[in-house]
Amino acid sequence: MYLSASKPTRSLRAVEWEGRNLVIVGGENHKTGQGICTIGHYENLELFAGHLLGIQSIPYRWSAQDLTTLDQIPYIGKISGNEEIYIATGFRKWGMTSGTLSAQMISDQIQRKDNPYTELYDPSRFKTGASLKTFFVQNANVAKELVAGKVEIVHKKTSDLTADEGAVVFHDGKRVGAYKDPEGKLHLVDRTCTHMGCETEWNDGDRSWDCPCHGSRFSYDGEVIEGPASVPLTKLYE
Ligand code: FES
Repeated sequence: MYLSASKPTRSLRAVEWEGRNLVIVGGENHKTGQGICTIGHYENLELFAGHLLGIQSIPYRWSAQDLTTLDQIPYIGKISGNEEIYIATGFRKWGMTSGTLSAQMISDQIQRKDNPYTELYDPSRFKTGASLKTFFVQNANVAKELVAGKVEIVHKKTSDLTADEGAVVFHDGKRVGAYKDPEGKLHLVDRTCTHMGCETEWNDGDRSWDCPCHGSRFSYDGEVIEGPASVPLTKLYE
C-alpha cells in the first residue's frame, strides 16, 4: 500500500478481484453529508488516478464511514459497566493495524493476561483537555447542521428533476427528499434523520440520503445503510 506524504492525502493499494488486477484509490476525507457534493470527491480521485496511472475503467466506487474517537486513539477493550462485552472501534482508517492489535489485546484480556496497552486504549477513558475541546467542537457542528437543515430555502420542485437525479424539493407545502430513478419513478422521503432529527442531504455520488450530524446514511427510498440511525426515513407518496 502506498500513502502520499503530501496533501491532499491519497492511498493506493493493489488488489486481485475475480481474476482481474485492480488498484484501490482512496482519499477525499470529509464529514458525511457535509462539504462539496460527493460526485466531486469521486471526480478528484479519478483525476488523480488518471494522471498517475491512466485508467481503463472504474468498476466500483464507494464511500466508507470511518469512526473517530474524541482523542483519535481507538477504543479497544471492555465496555464500561459490562464484564462480558468487548469493543474495538475508532480506527481512523488504520483498520489492518488496529484490527490486529484489537485481536491481541482482547484475547489477552479474556485470558486475564497483562497487556501494556490496556489503559491507553480503554474505551471508558475520557481525558479532559483535548477530548473535551473536541467534544464541544463536534457538538457545536451538530447544532449548526441541525439548524441549517431546518431553515434551508428550497426552490426546486419534483417536476424539475431529470432521470437519476435527487434533491431536496418543495412538495405539498413542505421540503421533502426526492429521487427520480432512471425509469422516471419518483421516490419521496421525509429526510429528517430518525436518529436525532437533523435534515439529511442528497449524496449524488452514491444516491443516498446522508446525515451531516452523526453520519447516518439512508438509501434513496429511506432504508438504513449506516447507523447510528436504526429506523428508516419515512416514505412519502405523491
Ligand atoms: S441526527 Fe442523523 S445521525 Fe444523528
